Amino acid sequence: MTDDATSQRSFRDLLHAQRVWDTDLPAFDPEAAPPAPLALFHAWFAEAVAAGQPEPHAMALATADAEGLPDVRTLLLHDADERGWHFATHATSAKGRQLAARPHAALGFYWPAQGRQVRVRGPVVRCTPAESHADLHARSTGALAAALTGAQSAVVGSVAELHRTADAAWDRAVAEPDAEAPTWTRYVVEPTEVEFFQGDARRRHIRLRYRRDVGEGNGDWTRELLWP
Ligand SMILES: Cc1cc2nc3c(=O)[nH]c(=O)nc-3n(C[C@H](O)[C@H](O)[C@H](O)COP(=O)(O)O)c2cc1C
Repeated sequence: MTDDATSQRSFRDLLHAQRVWDTDLPAFDPEAAPPAPLALFHAWFAEAVAAGQPEPHAMALATADAEGLPDVRTLLLHDADERGWHFATHATSAKGRQLAARPHAALGFYWPAQGRQVRVRGPVVRCTPAESHADLHARSTGALAAALTGAQSAVVGSVAELHRTADAAWDRAVAEPDAEAPTWTRYVVEPTEVEFFQGDARRRHIRLRYRRDVGEGNGDWTRELLWP
C-alpha cells in the first residue's frame, strides 16, 4: 500500500471508531420549556459550564457571501440578551464584508458534554461605535492585541511577518490600553428562530424550535417539536 493509502485507511479506522451520545445525557422536557428562548439558552449555558464543557462560549457563525455562497467560522459569544446574540469582529474581515452585503447569519453551539446543540438564525445589526469600543476594552490585553494586529482575512506574507506585527501590536496594547481598533465592530444576531436539540442514546433526540411571530404577530414565540 502507498503512504497515501495507509494514511487514508488509518484515518477511516479512527473515524469509524468514534462514538456520539454514548454517555449519560440529561433528559429534556420541552413541555416545561419557557415561553421565550433566551431563558432556556441562559439555563443550558450555565448547565454546560457546570458539566465541564470546554469553551461553551465558542460558536460557529455562518454567513453568505455576495453570491449567496455559504461560509462558516468559529467565534466567541460576547452576550445573549433581549436584543439577541452578540459577537465582535472586524467589519473589514471576510465575514464583515459578507454581513455588510447580506446582514443575516446563523449561529451554532455544540456542547457534547451533554449532547446538546443550539441553533440561532436571524438578521444581524451593527452596534454603535461606542458599544464596539466598550466591547474591545472590556476584554484582555491579548484580545486588544489581536484586534490591533493586521488586516483580518487579508493574505500575510510569512510567519515572520505575522510574528513581527503581532508582537508590535502586543507591545502597543500593553502601552496604550485605550488604543482604538477602528474596524472592531460588535454585532447582534436578532433571533427569528432558535432551536434546542437534546441528544439521546436511543436516538429519540428532542428538537424544540422557537419561531418568532412576525407581521401581524406580537413578537411572541411559537414553540414546535421537530422530527430529529
Ligand atoms: C475558539 C475561537 C474563537 C474565535 N473567536 C473569534 C472572535 O470572537 N472574533 C473574531 O473575529 N475571530 C475569532 N476567531 C477567528 C475566526 O474563526 C476567523 O478565523 C476569523 O475571524 C476570520 O474569519 P473570516 O475570514 O471568515 O472573516 C476565533 C477562532 C477560534 C478557533
